[in-house]
Amino acid sequence: MKKIDRIHAREILDSRGYPTLEVEMHSGDLIAWAGVPSGRSTGKFEAQELRDGGPRFDGMGVTKAAANVNGLITETFKRFPLGRQQEFDEMLRGMDGTGNFSALGANAVVGASIAYAKLSALAKGVYLCDYIAGLSGQGRRMPKLFMNVLNGGWHAGNNLAVQEFHIIPEANDVDEAIEVGTALYHALQRVVKGHYNATAIGLGEEGGFNPPAANTREALDLLKEAAKQSGFEDQVRMGLDVAASTFLAEGLYVIDGKKLSSEELLKHLAAIAKAYDLFAVEDPFAEDDKLPFAELKKLFGPSRHLIGDDLTATNPDRIHAAYSDDAVNGVIIKPNQIGTLTQAIEAANLARSYGWLVVASHRSGETEDAFIADFAVGIGADAVKFGAPARGERTAKYNQLMKIFS
Ligand code: PGA
Ligand code: ZN
Repeated sequence: MKKIDRIHAREILDSRGYPTLEVEMHSGDLIAWAGVPSGRSTGKFEAQELRDGGPRFDGMGVTKAAANVNGLITETFKRFPLGRQQEFDEMLRGMDGTGNFSALGANAVVGASIAYAKLSALAKGVYLCDYIAGLSGQGRRMPKLFMNVLNGGWHAGNNLAVQEFHIIPEANDVDEAIEVGTALYHALQRVVKGHYNATAIGLGEEGGFNPPAANTREALDLLKEAAKQSGFEDQVRMGLDVAASTFLAEGLYVIDGKKLSSEELLKHLAAIAKAYDLFAVEDPFAEDDKLPFAELKKLFGPSRHLIGDDLTATNPDRIHAAYSDDAVNGVIIKPNQIGTLTQAIEAANLARSYGWLVVASHRSGETEDAFIADFAVGIGADAVKFGAPARGERTAKYNQLMKIFS
C-alpha cells in the first residue's frame, strides 16, 4: 500500500473572508487537499477549533493549527500507510488526548482526517463517496435537499430569530430536486423584491435571502408565495433550523417580538409547524434545555422530524443520551463538530440504528471543498444541508452531488 510522503497545512480564506486551514497530503505523485469548514452558531459541546487570537485577522488566524499539522501530525504520520482510516483517526485522538481536540485543534484534526481519506481514495482508485461508504457500511441513497433559501439569526442582518428557512423539494432524482429548488430560489428573489424593495435581496452567510421580515410566519409566507409562483407548490415542503441557543437571553427566548419561556416557545413552534406543515425543525431549544425536546417530539408524532444539532454535536455519547431522553428523531452530522471522520461515521451509524433521519451538513463558514457531498453519500445520509443553491462555496456541494448521481 502507498504511504504518506508529505503533509503541509496553510491558511486559506473561507466564505466569510477569514482564514481557515487547508491540509495538503502527498503520496508519490498523488496529492489531496482538504479545506476546513467553520461554524458561527457553534454548540457548546463541539470539538474545539484552534484560533491564533491577537490582532491579526481579528484573532481568527490558524497559524498555530497549521503548525500542529506541519509539526507533530507530520512527524507522527510520515510513511504511514494509506487506507487505514480508523487507525489514523484513533492515533489523532490519542495524540491529542483532551477528548475535544482542544490541544491539536479540531480544525487541524478534521483537515488531516479528510485529507487522508481523500488521498486514500485516490490511492485505491475509487470515488471518495465509495471510499467513505466502505467505512460506513452504508449503500448510496439519494438524499433530500434541505435548501436554506432564507437566512436569519446570526447568519443574517435582519430581525429574524430563526437562523435557517429550508425548502425541501420532493423529487425522483438529484437533478429534479435541484431544478425545483433553484426555481423556487429565483421566484423567492422576485417575491422578496416585490414585498419589500430592491434593497431587500441581499444574501446571508449561507446564500439565502436576507429580507427584513418581521417574524417567522412572515418569512415562511414568502417561501410559500415563492413556491406558488415557481409552479412547484405541490412538490416542496419547508423546514427550520431554529438555532434557539442564539436567541436565549437571561433564561428567555427572544423571538418574533416576544420573550418566551421554554414552554411558551414550545407552543409557538408547535403552532407554526402545524400551520405550515413543516417537514423538519432543528434545535428548537438550547442544547441544555432538555425537557421540552421530548414534549415537542411527542406533539410532532412520526410525520414531522425534530432534529438535533447543537444538542447532539455529532457526538455518539450525546446522541445516545438524546435517544435515552427520547429528545429527537433526526440528527445533524458535521465532521468538524467531533473531529475525525471515523467518529462522525460512528455518530451517523448510531443515529441510523435508532431509526432517526440522518442529515449531513456543511457549516456557515465554508470553502470550495465539496467533501461534505461525498461524505453525505458515503454515510447514506437521508438529507443534506448545503445552504442556498447559490454562491460558489455552496454550489460546489450541489454540483458534486449532481456529478455523483449522474
Ligand atoms: P453554523 O450553522 O455552521 O454557523 O454552526 C449551521 C447550523 O447551525 O446548522
Ligand atoms: Zn443547526
